[in-house]
Amino acid sequence: MGDKLKVWVSRPFFPDIIARLAPVFDVHAELQSRAFSTDELVARLHGMAAAVTGLADRIDDRVLSRAPHLKFVANVSVGYNNFDIDAMRAHGVAASNTPDVLTDTTADYAWALLMAAARRVGAAERWLRAGHWQGTRFDEWLGMDLHGSTLGILGMGRIGQAIARRASGFDMRVIYHNRSRLDAGIEQSVNAHHVDKATLLRESDHLMLVLPLTAESHHVIGAAELAAMKPTATLVNIARGGIVDDVALAAALGEGRLAAAGLDVFEGEPAVHGALLALDNVVLSPHIASASGRTRRAMAALAVDNVLAFFGHGPHAGKPPSRII
Ligand code: DGY
Repeated sequence: MGDKLKVWVSRPFFPDIIARLAPVFDVHAELQSRAFSTDELVARLHGMAAAVTGLADRIDDRVLSRAPHLKFVANVSVGYNNFDIDAMRAHGVAASNTPDVLTDTTADYAWALLMAAARRVGAAERWLRAGHWQGTRFDEWLGMDLHGSTLGILGMGRIGQAIARRASGFDMRVIYHNRSRLDAGIEQSVNAHHVDKATLLRESDHLMLVLPLTAESHHVIGAAELAAMKPTATLVNIARGGIVDDVALAAALGEGRLAAAGLDVFEGEPAVHGALLALDNVVLSPHIASASGRTRRAMAALAVDNVLAFFGHGPHAGKPPSRII
């Protein structure tokens, strides 16, 4: 035990999977999921060579400068906006994420939110449960069609492409905007057309946000962008809180300038802005787009493989399968 390198695991990511670290490392795993302050992170990382972290664990200079033994951090998510990559580079700390294994599960969920929001599933269910259904009115609960409409995708990485592929079953026209345009062959295989951002906003009947949170993408959808969208449009955010200005979104939804929204992520989550909570035309979920049992286990397994590999163990020894830096 004494000679083993130490690894800290920030929450109970499937203990049977984390146990694969035990033959090699002295594993210090948290038994409960909770948020840690900088000081708490520093205390827990004391003497650790590696950490397995989640999105709530902010790894920045304030932490790294007080964690001199730390060499590798494996995030159990594809997004890593909780990492200050420049600070990690400066401190010589390497990192990994969990791409690919969650692509299809996350794309499925984006569609679940879109369908629920456009067809008003959440509000109708609440209404039914409240005992309001006294008989069917033909002109009630009218939603927006998906089939035959235009789907817009902002951010066209792996998950955006998986969302686009699913649109062919709904006979949709797919347009997208991305920093870099896809190769023609990929565009053709996902049946999506590149447009500028203004066209995307103007022409989308349903707009999906699938881009990482960076300094550039903060509030990429704010009051001006919402005003440029169709009042009949649906907006879905499965990417990150902070990409949308939640206050501006609540105002647009409340004033009928946007028909509906489906949100899995929020600015300042787990807190959700009260103005969103008060609206009936928004479907809200607690950041669960990747949450199928199989996928969440695959994410934890990939993080473990990355840690083992970084320190020269396991099937990928020396080559962490999804190293970021
Ligand atoms: C991710 O992987 O980035 C998700 O948002 C977390 O489940």
